[in-house]
Amino acid sequence: MPKQAIKTTIKIPCNADSGFPLLKIKNYDYDFDELILSDNTRNQINRIIDEFKNSDILATYNLNYKNKILLCGKPGTGKTFSVQAISSLLKIPVVHIRFDAIISSFLGETASNLRKVFEFIEKETWIVLFDEVDIIGKNRDDIHEHGEIKRIVNNYLQMLDDFEGKSLLFAATNHQNMLDSAIWRRFDAVIAYDLPNEIERKKLFESHLISIKKDVNINFDYLVEMTDGLSHSDIKMIIIDAMKTSILNNQERLSQHNIEYSVNNFLLRGKSLNQIQINKKELKQYWREIICEACGCTESDTNNKLCSCCGKSIEKIEKTNN
Ligand SMILES: Nc1ncnc2c1ncn2[C@@H]1O[C@H](COP(=O)(O)OP(=O)(O)O)[C@@H](O)[C@H]1O
Ligand SMILES: [Mg+2]
Repeated sequence: MPKQAIKTTIKIPCNADSGFPLLKIKNYDYDFDELILSDNTRNQINRIIDEFKNSDILATYNLNYKNKILLCGKPGTGKTFSVQAISSLLKIPVVHIRFDAIISSFLGETASNLRKVFEFIEKETWIVLFDEVDIIGKNRDDIHEHGEIKRIVNNYLQMLDDFEGKSLLFAATNHQNMLDSAIWRRFDAVIAYDLPNEIERKKLFESHLISIKKDVNINFDYLVEMTDGLSHSDIKMIIIDAMKTSILNNQERLSQHNIEYSVNNFLLRGKSLNQIQINKKELKQYWREIICEACGCTESDTNNKLCSCCGKSIEKIEKTNN
């Protein structure tokens, strides 16, 4: 495994014009198992780590480890988090490249900024993240792009090609369609990130709720059903919101209702109930209520379908306003 960078006396390159740092170095301490991915994505990530750890052995066979990796997929599916988790596992800091600072108001400055960044990351072993690389890698044939940007993209691609350092280079994008095919070819691996499937959503709920006191009868299957189409990050936000509600309400335990409420709020975020545009699925979930037909009570034990008030069996009634 390449030697870890010595993190003393590091001079961070800056944009000569504005003085803004072109990159940011951060240490992470995540548990790698917090990362919940499909088997296919996880296998590919594991392989990158394996090659990196065994780079010395590979070198004896004159083989290089994969060190330029493109991560693509929908927002909130764990591209940035994967890099942070890998950094935690390998105990190597992440160098976040700041494209906003690189692309300076003086466009002529940009190529020199890029050069400074590559010189920096070549000197030591880092985990480098070119996040949201589409800013720079936008399709070079896009007629709206200024000629200067095209030159920058060419520069970036050339520097990627010429890169000879020991660092692991990751680039991430939510918009793979906008990326030029010339960019894909520059990478040793392209790893796709998908929205979480049912099993992964269940794992997310279970892992995020592990440390909090909760009702024993949380219906994970129903929560998984409700959150179809949401990203890992969305689900995390929902769980945090539900936890906060239960804390603010002084509840002893987080309830199923807390989570369902947060899911519904999330699905309706930014929308008012008067808006006609609410889709049917959202509407149904929003108005879902379980009512005991015998006594009209809504405080029911939803898992056993028994009314906690009168003990009679209950039926689900889904109230919608249409
Ligand atoms: N695959 C995942 N497994 C576990 N948590 C995740 C995953 N993806 C996202 N998260 C959570 O959501 C947050 C934001 O995700 P992020 O990695 O920034 O998404 P992306 O870079 O794909 O847009 C992460 O910090 C993490 O807490
Ligand atoms: Mg990201």
